Amino acid sequence: MMRKQVSRDCLFRWLLSILLLAVATGRNFAQPAPRSDADVQHFVDSLLQKMTTEEKIGQLSQLFVFDSGEKVEKTVAGGEVGSLLFITDPAAINRLQHLAVEKSRLHIPLIFGFDVIHGFRTIFPVPIAMAASWDPSLETEGQATAAKEARAVGINWAFAPMLDIARDPRWGRMVEGAGEDPYLGSAMAAAQVRGFQGDYIGAPDHVLACMKHFAGYGAAEGGRDYDGSYISDAQMGNVYLPPFHAAVKAGVGSAMSAYMDLNDVPATGNRWLLTDVLRQQWGFKGFVVSDADAVKSLVKHGYARDLHDAAVRALNAGVDMEMAQDATAFGQSLAATLKTGEISLQQIETADRRILTAKARLGLFEHPYVDQAQVANVLGAPEHRTTERMAAERSAVLLRNENGLLPLKKEAYKKIAVVGPLADSKLDTIGPWAFQEDLPETVTVVEGLKSELGAGAQISFAPGVQIARTFPSFFDKIDHSVHPPAWSAEQQDQEMQKAVDLAGSSDLAILVLGELHDMSGEAASRQSLDLPGREEELMEKVVATGKPVVLVLVNGRPLNIVWASQHVPAILEAWYPGTQGGNAVARLLAGDVVPGGKLPFSWPRNVGQIPINYAHNTTQSPEDQAKRYWDVQSTPLFPFGFGLSYSQFTFSDLRLSKAKINADESLDVTVVVENTGSYTADEVAQLYLHQQYGSGSRPVRELKGFERTELKPAERKTLRFKIGKDERTYWSAATRSWVVDPSTFDVWVGPDSSASLHASFAVTH
Ligand code: NOJ
Repeated sequence: MMRKQVSRDCLFRWLLSILLLAVATGRNFAQPAPRSDADVQHFVDSLLQKMTTEEKIGQLSQLFVFDSGEKVEKTVAGGEVGSLLFITDPAAINRLQHLAVEKSRLHIPLIFGFDVIHGFRTIFPVPIAMAASWDPSLETEGQATAAKEARAVGINWAFAPMLDIARDPRWGRMVEGAGEDPYLGSAMAAAQVRGFQGDYIGAPDHVLACMKHFAGYGAAEGGRDYDGSYISDAQMGNVYLPPFHAAVKAGVGSAMSAYMDLNDVPATGNRWLLTDVLRQQWGFKGFVVSDADAVKSLVKHGYARDLHDAAVRALNAGVDMEMAQDATAFGQSLAATLKTGEISLQQIETADRRILTAKARLGLFEHPYVDQAQVANVLGAPEHRTTERMAAERSAVLLRNENGLLPLKKEAYKKIAVVGPLADSKLDTIGPWAFQEDLPETVTVVEGLKSELGAGAQISFAPGVQIARTFPSFFDKIDHSVHPPAWSAEQQDQEMQKAVDLAGSSDLAILVLGELHDMSGEAASRQSLDLPGREEELMEKVVATGKPVVLVLVNGRPLNIVWASQHVPAILEAWYPGTQGGNAVARLLAGDVVPGGKLPFSWPRNVGQIPINYAHNTTQSPEDQAKRYWDVQSTPLFPFGFGLSYSQFTFSDLRLSKAKINADESLDVTVVVENTGSYTADEVAQLYLHQQYGSGSRPVRELKGFERTELKPAERKTLRFKIGKDERTYWSAATRSWVVDPSTFDVWVGPDSSASLHASFAVTH
């Protein structure tokens, strides 16, 4: 029906082009080719000509829908809404889509959005963990799997990747991003966009990606979620914006404006961010959606006078679609703003054009419905679980391994105690942004160890402590967590003793400690990084039994493990490892796979050191570390990029192709990495750069290249990196511009940010 009304010849031309392309390339007809820009534009323009002002305004609203009742159905059939968020049932999606396509006057399909952050049914390791893999191709594969599962139920749009640089681990949303570093963050940003969207927007089994939260949310003051940020221009340009720019270069189709106030101008009403930077400087062609209720919040910020003013200022700033729990400010006010002349129809049409273009590119006009018969074949497919397990294995970071306790010598440990509140908790194995998970299929550490080692060892479990939930989960409305009743004080002591006794009567104790699944994520900031509840006490008592102890951490932020780093011989950071997490941990501990992940942040000793990112500027008496703090060292507990292996590696022969280059030139860096240990294992070679002097002062070192590579015992590989103009360009506060300075540069390559293998080169005018 749509076809008749909108543009018969346009569609005909498009189908013909597919046919010709299919003949030319031998492509299967079921795989639609991307539509040409000209065709899409023609199609959207002719559609816009038929739309009433109300329909145009309707497309700019996205509503939260938990239960699709009569009210929503009326809104959809009336063409008053362009998108719905939070429906995941394919039958409900089809029903609502039928209303949009068959009942609304112009038959414009809805675009269904959802928070597909680390998987849909198959839950992947949390994003901070995926960043710890230092493996962009794994990121791509993981998000492509998530996209496939989401698309199977009819979701066309993922609210990811989350690209906020986070340098304050009190901020709970650190778990959703790639950590503290803009270079690693940019690599992971582009990789995720490729995973979600595929080769082009509308590629089969893929979805539209949405980079968020644009921008500066990660710098919330005090790490308090939603609080304002004050970020200098230089930090914005050099630290917070690069991952977003990388996503735009990778072709991301949409962006979400952030909640918070940025330098006294809320991000959702910030024209500099949403138009000057995003569109004019970067050439972004997609559409911008606000975060949930962020347009209305412009009033709460003390920025907009009322909802009418909020709608005007958000649209003027560059928001195209408003996400809201109930009626949007756009829906309620834009018609009136047209009358007052504060907004022009052309502005509304511009936003429409961007949204309808995305719908057309996604193929929603031709294929608005989902094939319900296929859903069961896609969700949680066995190959998805295998990819997930590999991702969990590649993300884990070995933090300590005294006297080679790991991998476990199976013959030495016949009785193994697994202790801790997270060891057998399915919900806490998957982490915060999972709503459609398959809990029965989720494998805990206890279950993983039983299937890995159970034939030769007796595995017993005791939780030891219970971590109390101090307030209801932010997501109680939509998650399926069943919270067991809280233990009495007496029961707490008994359970603790039971666990300690179990450890004392075993050959080995595996402690699984960390944070509950919802202690990280949105609205989950913490003022302390200590192990919650009585976990620290449990750990110290288990260690006091004198039995060998392995600590497995399940969490989404660095925790205070100073005591553990001195007294627990083996520590494995497993993060929230996802659906197959327990199997991955068991295989890592048993040595079926060798840990190769590296930290995507500097691990502080305690909360008082925050922020302690490695890329800080140098200052007075840099050699005298003791002068920084009176009561603690000024180094982190573990440096950025750190991670051990069961094998050992050396770096040597660092060579630069040139000793001197001019500002426009590049040079090559080569280094030899050798596996000197006895396991086939991965090492992540990391290249750091430092500019000695220039128009602004620069960080002591910055990551500018990395490569994860597998080496057999005694194998040597020569790795090559390039240092070009991009790697040396930065935003200078002195000149208020991007600069490439003539200077002397230091280069280090090695296994983490404390690498000592050094060379230098000069850049002349
Ligand atoms: C608020 C969060 O900040 C954002 O990340 C999320 O995508 C939306 N809610 C929708 O759930």
